[in-house]
Amino acid sequence: MSIADEERRAFRNALGAFATGVTIATTVDGAGNPVGVTASSFNSVSLDPPLVLWSLAKNSLSRDAFCISGHFAVHVLAASQEDLSNRFARSGQDKFAGVGWRAGQIGSPVLDEHAALFECRTRYQYEGGDHIIMVGEVLRHEVCDVAPLLFHGGRYVERRARPVADTARDVVGENGDFSDNFLFYLISRAHFQTSRATRAHLAEHGVAMGEYLTLSILAMESPLTGADIVARLAHTGHAPDSRMLEDLVARQFVAHDGAAYALADAGRALVVETLAYGKAFEADLTEDFTPGELAETKRVLRRIIELSGSDVPIVWRDMVG
Ligand SMILES: Cc1cc2nc3c(=O)[nH]c(=O)nc-3n(C[C@H](O)[C@H](O)[C@H](O)COP(=O)(O)O)c2cc1C
Repeated sequence: MSIADEERRAFRNALGAFATGVTIATTVDGAGNPVGVTASSFNSVSLDPPLVLWSLAKNSLSRDAFCISGHFAVHVLAASQEDLSNRFARSGQDKFAGVGWRAGQIGSPVLDEHAALFECRTRYQYEGGDHIIMVGEVLRHEVCDVAPLLFHGGRYVERRARPVADTARDVVGENGDFSDNFLFYLISRAHFQTSRATRAHLAEHGVAMGEYLTLSILAMESPLTGADIVARLAHTGHAPDSRMLEDLVARQFVAHDGAAYALADAGRALVVETLAYGKAFEADLTEDFTPGELAETKRVLRRIIELSGSDVPIVWRDMVG
């Protein structure tokens, strides 16, 4: 490969680092036949007046049509339109055969499907090396709520979910340990470590985690039926059955009036004491945090909670009593 070829390839690679959408620009030739090319060089120019641009290779067979017609339409492609993009990127064939389209408002062919559409009058044409920069004034536009087709590094960007096998490779580090970058691991480990003191406190009182969560739900809302408690604990994986609830009644943590369960004084005392352990632990843990770090940590955790379980009911309100 010559130095010039190598340089050209390096330049092309560098340009490919810029991720873009993909468009099809259309117009008509002198005989009124539809003409179109795939173009990723589309960009916005001006809001007032509304101008857009794209650049057309001078050796394109469609060059005369675009330079003479005085109008063009740009279709931003949807993620599902990769085949159409490839079809309009091949010179010379009947690109419109079997494709749904109609004549647009100013004469350019308008494809039935797209993520967005800009119908333009050609306002300026500039020479730009081996391309012609076409600037159009947008007379009409449309947008559809669909995912766009993306192009990066010389190929279409796949939107498919990552295979679990690939993910497994990222999760387990080179020496077989869990990767330090695995968010799920970090959250789980932080949870287990930060709850150690409260778990030890509960163990001293002979109270299991499912029992404690039941008491804390009743501390926020009493009375509740057994089914209500199970529903509110769904996100924790704990589901107290009637035997566990009756056991809490027998130990006087909970009162039962036949239809529903309510927190008894001993249960409330245990919940408040356990929360106090948690608060004291939090104060020690975050002693060296700046106020900004603490606020940011809480913000990120709230966001993780929101994103990971919008279907989970919000049960954690201010403690009553
Ligand atoms: C993703 C993608 C982006 C493209 N972007 C442009 C572009 O911005 N300008 C251009 O002239 N050609 C671009 N092309 C190449 C043209 O679509 C291709 O040369 C087409 O065959 C020209 O058709 P014609 O010779 O029938 O006019 C692109 C091709 C692909 C696959």
